[in-house]
Amino acid sequence: MASPSRRHSRRHSRSQPGRWREDMGRARQCQRPSPAAPEDGPHTLVVIGRRFPLYSRLPGGSRDAEGSSSLAHQLGNQDDGPACAPMQRALLSLTIPLEMLQLVKSRMMEAMLKGLSRETHAQSCVQMLPTFICSTPDGTEKGNLLVVELCQKHVRTLWVKLLGDGNHSPEIMYKIFDVPESVMQGKGEELFGFIAQCVRQFLSGIDSPQTPIPLGFVFPFSCKQKKLDEAELISWSKGFCCSDVEGKDVVQLLQKAINSQEIYNVDVVALLNDTVGTIMTCSSGDKPCEIALVVDTGTNSCFMAEAQLVEMVEETSGRMCVNTEWGSFGEDGSLNDILTPYDQRVDQESCDPGLKRFEKLVGGLYLGEIVRHVLISLTAEKALFVGSNVTSLRTKDVIRTEQVLDIIDGEDGMETARKILEALGLSPSERDCCRVQQVCRAVVSRAAALCAAGLAAILTHMRQARDLDQLSVNVGVEGQLYQRQPSRFGEILQSVTGLLAPECTTTLLHAVDGTGRGAAMVTAVALRLAAQRREVDQLLAPLRLSYDDLKHVQALMRQEMELGLGRDTHANACVRMLPTYVCATPDGKEQGEFLALDLGGTNFRVLVVHVGKEGIRMASEIYVIPTTAMTGTGEALFDHIMECIIDFQQKQDLMAQVLPLGFTFSFPCQQLGLDKAVLLNWTKGFNASGCVGEDVVRLLREAAQRKEHLGLKVVAVINDTVGTMMSCGYDDPNCEIGLIVGTGSNACYMEEMRNVGTVEGEQGRMCINMEWGAFGDNGCLGSIFTTFDELVDEKTINAGKQRFEKLISGMYLGEIVRHILVAMVEKQLLFHGKPCSSLMERNIFQTKFLSTIEVDGLALRQVQGILQDLGIQASFEDSVLVRKVCHTVSLRAAQLCAAGLAAVVEKMRENRGLDKMAVTVGVDGTLYKLHPCFSQNVQETLRELAPNCNVTFLQSEDGSGKGAALVAAVACRGAEL
Ligand code: BG6
Ligand code: GLC
Repeated sequence: MASPSRRHSRRHSRSQPGRWREDMGRARQCQRPSPAAPEDGPHTLVVIGRRFPLYSRLPGGSRDAEGSSSLAHQLGNQDDGPACAPMQRALLSLTIPLEMLQLVKSRMMEAMLKGLSRETHAQSCVQMLPTFICSTPDGTEKGNLLVVELCQKHVRTLWVKLLGDGNHSPEIMYKIFDVPESVMQGKGEELFGFIAQCVRQFLSGIDSPQTPIPLGFVFPFSCKQKKLDEAELISWSKGFCCSDVEGKDVVQLLQKAINSQEIYNVDVVALLNDTVGTIMTCSSGDKPCEIALVVDTGTNSCFMAEAQLVEMVEETSGRMCVNTEWGSFGEDGSLNDILTPYDQRVDQESCDPGLKRFEKLVGGLYLGEIVRHVLISLTAEKALFVGSNVTSLRTKDVIRTEQVLDIIDGEDGMETARKILEALGLSPSERDCCRVQQVCRAVVSRAAALCAAGLAAILTHMRQARDLDQLSVNVGVEGQLYQRQPSRFGEILQSVTGLLAPECTTTLLHAVDGTGRGAAMVTAVALRLAAQRREVDQLLAPLRLSYDDLKHVQALMRQEMELGLGRDTHANACVRMLPTYVCATPDGKEQGEFLALDLGGTNFRVLVVHVGKEGIRMASEIYVIPTTAMTGTGEALFDHIMECIIDFQQKQDLMAQVLPLGFTFSFPCQQLGLDKAVLLNWTKGFNASGCVGEDVVRLLREAAQRKEHLGLKVVAVINDTVGTMMSCGYDDPNCEIGLIVGTGSNACYMEEMRNVGTVEGEQGRMCINMEWGAFGDNGCLGSIFTTFDELVDEKTINAGKQRFEKLISGMYLGEIVRHILVAMVEKQLLFHGKPCSSLMERNIFQTKFLSTIEVDGLALRQVQGILQDLGIQASFEDSVLVRKVCHTVSLRAAQLCAAGLAAVVEKMRENRGLDKMAVTVGVDGTLYKLHPCFSQNVQETLRELAPNCNVTFLQSEDGSGKGAALVAAVACRGAEL
């Protein structure tokens, strides 16, 4: 096996200029384009003018007098002699009009979309490979890292010390090792063995202080990446073709090779493409770079894509860097109309004919070859080297891209051309040199223009995906074409991009230190994120419930239900299982006109409900219950309620009538009859004095008397769960369960009278208001409560009470999230660990934000906006974390709710002696209705926990006031009978 030969080693820091690839020859100064070379007498055709006029719009919209798009035509007019006709043809064929570039851009965009989509990915030539890199460096990356870059013909090993100072002055040491041709084309094992030897030699020369040493591997070939540290090589390119590597995980191959060199302290933690290295090199905390182009031997690009569009991975939040592998663009024939005969010959002579068509028009491995074929053709047409022996031109690779790049610059370039041509045994005239220069310029300009079309495609894709009118992006550029010709190549790139994507502004950044520094950052980011992920997971782990946990909760709920129903046990049961005296669901025969009150949810409503044969008509008004009334005296609260009723009756012109009233009172009550309900305790932030232990119907009647309102006839008082069940039961007779997941949470269901130990009678069924919100108040849910739940509970007005409700309902979820976020800030996992005063404010994070933040596909920009409105400055990554926290908390709530329901449906099924049971649950509550995935999570979990019950969920659209009216109707009918 060839052993690595050391070529270069030095220590430096960022302030030392020109260190990149000094080994490849004299570093060229960046030059402004010098005045154009002397033109070729009267035959000159200006392909690249000083301001590159070819790619400027023609006045009047780039159409000529005949109306055809004709930059080429315009060029033709400049040619005035038969001797230059072949030259003119050659140059024209290498010139791509703007309209065609637009087309190339559109085709590239199409190919990109095809590559991103799960369905079409396999057929797309632009593969759009996920890189699993979801964030750019934020400048806090710190530590010593090892980087290995496999480059064209050499391996570069780097030792990078990141100081966590915004990545302004990383210390970098590196060594370059030549890779012998035999290794590039030999066995895979040899190649990786060679790389491992480079690593060993490199490490032996430095004092590596730490162990284990994380290694980032820059591997600039197309790979199917599965994780940051798992990537299968799809195919070799750029002259590499080692056996037994394609289809294998190259991280493993390198790790194995490193281990067999007995370097046990090196861990390969990240593999990345060179484009990704570039994006990272060009990023710092205050200046993220979101696109990178590499225009070196080959060409490629990557950009930060919206993760939900990258369908090949599960990740749907945030952004992910996508390696486009655009070098393969055109393999499906989409570049055929711009390919010249020279390109065809270059392709045929390459080791992979038909493949990498875009790369073969743009990449440095091919530009020299294109020029050579143009020269061969012009020689044959006697437009060049008349009288010279040109056989040397027939040898592949005699003209190299570096030479092409040196030739295109002004008079120096002419001189270079002369020397190069003479070295090939030709005797070039002044005119030959000038023509060769023009050919070189045309080839390079075309490469830059095509690159611009690709860049414009990415920009437009990003702008559209982010739903922006304007997009401003930093673009990292790397590779010899840009580096040797930053002014010429860069200017064409920028100006043509501007023409093709006018809504986007780009700033081109040169990747100082090449890809290596970026690779170190990725490695550091990978370590930082892995550590962060571990910490976040640790923090959230107690909130994640397993199937067994949920089964346990289900069993406990079932146990508590029995205790609540039992004659001897109910007094001390925390799930009270209150009888409601509602013994049947509606049968459709109910009739009459009723008043209804709906108190205890987000809104207090007064309604008039007309129940008739033709259905139900309702009118209602929402009234506010001020916090002072909720927590003042009972008298004040019921006076306020009466005032609202009177106001409503006046508005509805109902003062003269005495309508029966159904009262939805959504708090735990010991019902002594349908119209007699003793409040057991307040919940959900209500705490009006003098009410607990009293019959709320009496409190309402007394308030009516105080207001001298004599026309009030309360006939029924019900819980909102019951109202919801009745309301939904009117439409679906199978509805025998009521569920509320709103401000509070509770359920009711039809229980067999024989099981209700607290009411006399064995026949039939009665609706039981479970008051499941209090489940766990006896401590039985101790293993489920987290420190965040305890913090939330402590600060409520009913600490220690309604513990299940405080895990599930809208009044509390936002607070749970807020406490988790505070803990994350303390652990430096969020907002850069900066204390955030608004986050310390109780109840600032309302549950409605959870519902918005979790909307599938909501751009993180909008999440940032929501947080900003709360006075919280969140980065993109912070937003991803906040969303994750919201998701964890709402998922747990939905799962717990399903565990409670599972206990209910299973009990009903057993009561009825059925193997399988179908039942409908009537549901209400803002959380259930407005949260984007709560209902789905409840239903999915319930299916798992109670597989023998086929449960349908029916959302109550009309609120529970309608149910109260229906109960009142039944009560009136009963009274009449
Ligand atoms: C309403 C019902 O639709 O939902 C109320 O009419 C019920 O009776 C409420 O209390 C529950 O949801 P929230 O979100 O308002 O508490
Ligand atoms: C609270 C109340 C309960 C009500 C539920 C939903 O848990 O105690 O009666 O049904 O909130 O509003």
